[in-house]
Amino acid sequence: MFASRKGIRAFARTHDKKQPVADSKTPSASPAKRRILVTAALPYANGHIHLGHLVEYIQTDIWVRFQKLRGNECIYICADDTHGTAIMIRARQEGRSEEALIADMREAHIADFARFHIEFDNYGSTHSDENRELCGEFWAKLRKAGLVHEKEVTQLYDVKAGTFLADRFVKGTCPNCKSPDQYGDSCDKCGTTYTPADLINPKSTLSGTTPEMRSADHLFVQIEQLHGFLQDWTQSGDHLQREIANYLAGHFLGDPLRDWDVSRPAPYFGFEIPDSPGNYWYVWFDAPIGYVASTAQWCKTHGQKLDDWWRGGKAEVHHFIGKDITYFHTLFWPAMLKTAEFNLPTKIHVHGFLTVDGEKMSKSKGTFVRGATYADHLDPVYLRYYYASKLGPGLDDLDLNRDEFVSKVNSDLVGKVVNLASRTAKFIQDVGLSPTYPDDGGLFATAAAEGEAIATAYEACDYNRAMRLIMALADKANQFVDNAAPWKLKNDSARAVELQNACTISLNLFRQLVIYLAPVLPSLRNQTEELLGQGVSRWEDVGKPLVGVKINQFKHMIKRVEPAQLEAMIEASKEEPKVTDAQSQPTSDAAPAAPEADSGAALEAEPLVTDVISIDDFTKVDLRVARVVNAEEVPKAKKLVKLTLSLGGDNTRTVFAGIKSAYEPEKLIGRLVIVVANLAPRQMTFGVSEGMVVAAGAGGTEIYLLNPDSGAKPGQRVH
Ligand code: 2FM
Ligand code: ZN
Repeated sequence: MFASRKGIRAFARTHDKKQPVADSKTPSASPAKRRILVTAALPYANGHIHLGHLVEYIQTDIWVRFQKLRGNECIYICADDTHGTAIMIRARQEGRSEEALIADMREAHIADFARFHIEFDNYGSTHSDENRELCGEFWAKLRKAGLVHEKEVTQLYDVKAGTFLADRFVKGTCPNCKSPDQYGDSCDKCGTTYTPADLINPKSTLSGTTPEMRSADHLFVQIEQLHGFLQDWTQSGDHLQREIANYLAGHFLGDPLRDWDVSRPAPYFGFEIPDSPGNYWYVWFDAPIGYVASTAQWCKTHGQKLDDWWRGGKAEVHHFIGKDITYFHTLFWPAMLKTAEFNLPTKIHVHGFLTVDGEKMSKSKGTFVRGATYADHLDPVYLRYYYASKLGPGLDDLDLNRDEFVSKVNSDLVGKVVNLASRTAKFIQDVGLSPTYPDDGGLFATAAAEGEAIATAYEACDYNRAMRLIMALADKANQFVDNAAPWKLKNDSARAVELQNACTISLNLFRQLVIYLAPVLPSLRNQTEELLGQGVSRWEDVGKPLVGVKINQFKHMIKRVEPAQLEAMIEASKEEPKVTDAQSQPTSDAAPAAPEADSGAALEAEPLVTDVISIDDFTKVDLRVARVVNAEEVPKAKKLVKLTLSLGGDNTRTVFAGIKSAYEPEKLIGRLVIVVANLAPRQMTFGVSEGMVVAAGAGGTEIYLLNPDSGAKPGQRVH
């Protein structure tokens, strides 16, 4: 039922050995070692990780790696957020248990994070024993403080599905502008907000039926009783960005704080409230407690005490979140922590959303990109650097501009940083670095002196400034190499020492940059360690040149990015099944936009075949995954598209498919389809068709080609 410990351990940080703790006596290390607990928001278990999520996980990972590099004791804690109606409904629709569903999603999330070098010290789950126990502890304290009371709530209820309906599970006509098909919380045409009961002709998105009003008792937390504390805590100037403090003061703290509804009646996937049978803690109650529960798991496997991290003020607690979940983290969560006598957050770091080419991410434009799809096409290192170069300490949205992405990666990472090593290492492969550090006109010392400014920028989450400072140093280092021109010295034995010195300087300046960039580019740090045969894991090493050692053969580090790779990623994203956009989640409930109800009309149009077949009959059909490598119109054939399909290797097939009414040929290129590979070849007017692609739908514009989930490879058999 619960995530296996093995899985958690396997995913735990593995680079401790490579990262010796910095010597706190050196001037550039922090004077006193801090104990810092860092969290990123727990991703919902009902959707895959996409580029929007990655802004936060990468931002946080960089901050954690920076703290570790500076010698602080820092842990990065996260978990899957697993409870709520959305998971329950999806599990029902998929005909499996919620536990099976969340186990699969956990695996997918962990794999995605690993591909982007995001390294958690513990990746837990809100559906864990530790979380259940801690929820009980928080709850008992809230009860004891007299903050919990019961009120009747009247809500829409889906009789057919047997569940109350969160706002996102109701659709109908907007009461204001009369636009049809609007969700139960707000109209995306006119922006009016309302309750689901205000919709004209409301329908449940779960069953398509008209819901009815029903009442149930809910449990509420009266956070108004903590108004004074929240006023002081949010406005102290220490814990929140100024914009956030002002937003809270302007929108919430001027009035009495509304009671918070923290229970949901059965059926609900979550933890049943021990002293209120039949009621469950609302997902947003147990989710933040998941931060503590995941820390508790880490403590158990690392011989640590939870209280040293969450009580008595011995550790700093830093939460990184997106601006859409500000309310939960800055009002409810501190109120819960205060009442339950846990440490309050030291700081809540709020970031903006991701836009792509200046627009909201869009599925149809292919700019809603899953992490896995990105990593299938592009090196995750590019994204880490690009995000770092764009992230500041504020709440501004971050724009992924495709042209800028290509130029930044190619000119900064490849052109300025890696180039320093690739242009020089090869000339001193045999002799190694000079025995003493040569006169470099003060370059190394200047770069070392920049360390504190760079560290201050990292600490303030001003990565954009940190990257600018680092790239300015890279510019100076490149000017040095351009002037020294070691390639001109390489064949002149009289100038061998000069050559060795120039390369020693260049590689030392490169090594400084790699240390400064290590929080962003841990893989470049590893590659550099391999090249130099030395650790590049101590911040203070920026002040000590490396001399008199042999170096290893230079191996390629970071490739130039090609715009075509981005295009291919966008095309592949257009093909993917719908993903849940956690960024656009309504904060009122953790439910995603639910799939449309299935009306049953398809079966009426084409009733099920009653003749049963044996498994042998089925296996006679050789269904294979294939990639469309070319697709073109067939002149004079109204319905046909000529497809060239790859089944892997040299194995290609030509298939004439009657899908022109629904697909533009050029948009098919690159996508995967399912083909009947052992269909007898058929001579047609335009050529021989060597198979058939399978599709659903009634024909005309209603043709839906089958698409395997990402990861499937051409040639794989469909069983
Ligand atoms: O907005 C979200 O994606 C939530 N799953 C975040 C939860 S963060 C914390 F409170 F657990
Ligand atoms: Zn409207």
